[in-house]
Amino acid sequence: MKLLSEMSWEETKEYLAQEDRIILPLGATEQHGPHLGLGTDTFEADAIARAVGEKTGVVVAPTLCFGMSHHHLGFPGTISLKPATLIAVYEDVFRALYRHGFRRVLIVNGHGGNEAAIQSALHQVAADLEHLRAKIFQWWSDAEAYRVVSEMLGAQEGSHASPGETSLMLAINANAVKLPRLKGRDANVIPSRDILNMHLFPHKYPDGIMGLNPSNATAKVGQALLDKSVEICARELESF
Ligand code: NI
Repeated sequence: MKLLSEMSWEETKEYLAQEDRIILPLGATEQHGPHLGLGTDTFEADAIARAVGEKTGVVVAPTLCFGMSHHHLGFPGTISLKPATLIAVYEDVFRALYRHGFRRVLIVNGHGGNEAAIQSALHQVAADLEHLRAKIFQWWSDAEAYRVVSEMLGAQEGSHASPGETSLMLAINANAVKLPRLKGRDANVIPSRDILNMHLFPHKYPDGIMGLNPSNATAKVGQALLDKSVEICARELESF
């Protein structure tokens, strides 16, 4: 597997003489219920990106461990960049990659709160970086990937710290999963026009879980979701 963090600048130059694709994993450090570690979204983006890199030979950039998690700041341990900061960070990353010759970026995003900043940054650099192309993969919003969860666990509402995400973490890093801490309650996602912020979120979801009680999560489901995610990303890189 080619990890940018393990390659020298000379190796990177040699790679760029042959190839202009890169995998960019974007994570977050934020609460994920009483039972999942704060690095959950970072572990997920990192694991999918590395497995895709292993399968395709495309270089993998270091995983960014901070994202836009202001709506989770009511919970201890969450570290968040404000939207304007995160857009500036992403812009700088895209500009640096482009400067060296990367032209096609597959973004593996681990956290929904990053999506608006990713889109904004790409729009803001588009005028200058004319030949930059980007694709984005998000396991929870990709219908083909999420079907694995609904087929194996039945209809399961929500995504944040819910059965699908807990399963994925059981497959990726079981050290960050503490199932005995679950209280056995469902936190059904109720459709609402409210935009959740750091004040509303803990009020609506007091333990941080959005969705059904994840006690039925299994590593088997998580592995199937990981495998499907890798398959989809590898296909997207081939057709890039
Ligand atoms: Ni998450």
